[in-house]
Amino acid sequence: MQHAEITGWGKCLPPAVLSNADLATFIDTSDEWITSRTGIKERRICHCNFSDMAIVAAQRALAAADLDPLELDLILLGSLTNDSLCPNTASIVQDAIGARNAASIDINSACTGFLYGLHIGTNLIRAGAHKKVLVIGGEFISHYMDWSRRDVAVLFGDACGAVVIEASDDEVGLLAAKIGCEADAKYAIQITNLGSAYSRLSDDFLYTGWNFDGQEVFKRAVKSMSQACTDVLDQVGLSVDDVHLVVPHQANKRILDSLAKRVGIPQEKVFVNVHKYGNTSAGTIPVALAEAVDEGRVNPGDYILSATFGAGLTWGAGIIRWGNRVKPLRISDAELPPCDKTALEILEPHIRRYKEHAKTSV
Ligand code: UT7
Repeated sequence: MQHAEITGWGKCLPPAVLSNADLATFIDTSDEWITSRTGIKERRICHCNFSDMAIVAAQRALAAADLDPLELDLILLGSLTNDSLCPNTASIVQDAIGARNAASIDINSACTGFLYGLHIGTNLIRAGAHKKVLVIGGEFISHYMDWSRRDVAVLFGDACGAVVIEASDDEVGLLAAKIGCEADAKYAIQITNLGSAYSRLSDDFLYTGWNFDGQEVFKRAVKSMSQACTDVLDQVGLSVDDVHLVVPHQANKRILDSLAKRVGIPQEKVFVNVHKYGNTSAGTIPVALAEAVDEGRVNPGDYILSATFGAGLTWGAGIIRWGNRVKPLRISDAELPPCDKTALEILEPHIRRYKEHAKTSV
């Protein structure tokens, strides 16, 4: 049987940093509250289009694999903050990186978009339908943020990551995944005024709103991710002791600690970068994976456990066996367009509009 080896990896973080102290200048919050409840210290704010981040992450992943983009036969892009619905963002990436032989599909399952995409891409390679697939996950979530809401505005950030997967005879890549959805709680995370269910004639249409039941999401995240981890380990006949590294969705450090405890994995084996980037939704896992490899946390043949959770409420876990190579074959010189603003300067007009809107809609 064919497997789907991860041969390239790349990430793209926009340069503008929004610290907890920056947030406290315009919403009623503090570094102490955010750090103790979430572990987040800062996050990035995108100054360009989402596709710009996706293109840079893709080019870095392709360079790491030393793959000619013309050899790609499929691009799967997990995101809910696409440049546009039509054309889809995977098509924009396909054109920009010169991958004209690749079919291009956007996947919207929110935070789980990358792992869902890796599962789909891997199984298409296993079935013989595709050979070389680019899987991207990322988000420009600041674009849709309600900057008057302290309970959600402090949690998220912008980022994108990507991997190249290629058909291989070796038993490597995503060995198994278990994905699912608790749709009975679908409105525990909801972005309103975005989509065809919302009237374009309404004055509110321009203001995306958030319904967010943090405590419900927290409980369900720990429960479903830990169950999915146990299930996926059972599927491949591995125990937690066989796992070298856990690369989970980064939403909240407390969720990661509870997950490790429930699954029975020591915290040292859990890769954490939520303090630097916040929750970047579909971007968390590919960014963390790229960072873990580049920081030398992954060795040839390692078993990596990943778990994810997000709006829907979608969830999943996967077990990846890393291949022989932990160094990129090439380094890309792809960069985002220059940014001459601070994060607060980028956000200032949006913060002002949301504050005015909050006043008028009370
Ligand atoms: O990737 C998608 C998945 N999303 C998640 O995984 C998020 C899961 N949920 C969480 O991470 C946590 O539930 C939160 C971090 C969102 C909230 O933490 P919590 O410990 O559940 O706090 P809480 O919602 O119970 O709020 C406690 C208090 C409230 O005040 P009162 O009612 O006790 O007076 C909030 O109004 O904290 C207040 N609060 C804040 N205070 C300062 C809420 N947000 C803030 C804030 N700064 N930013």
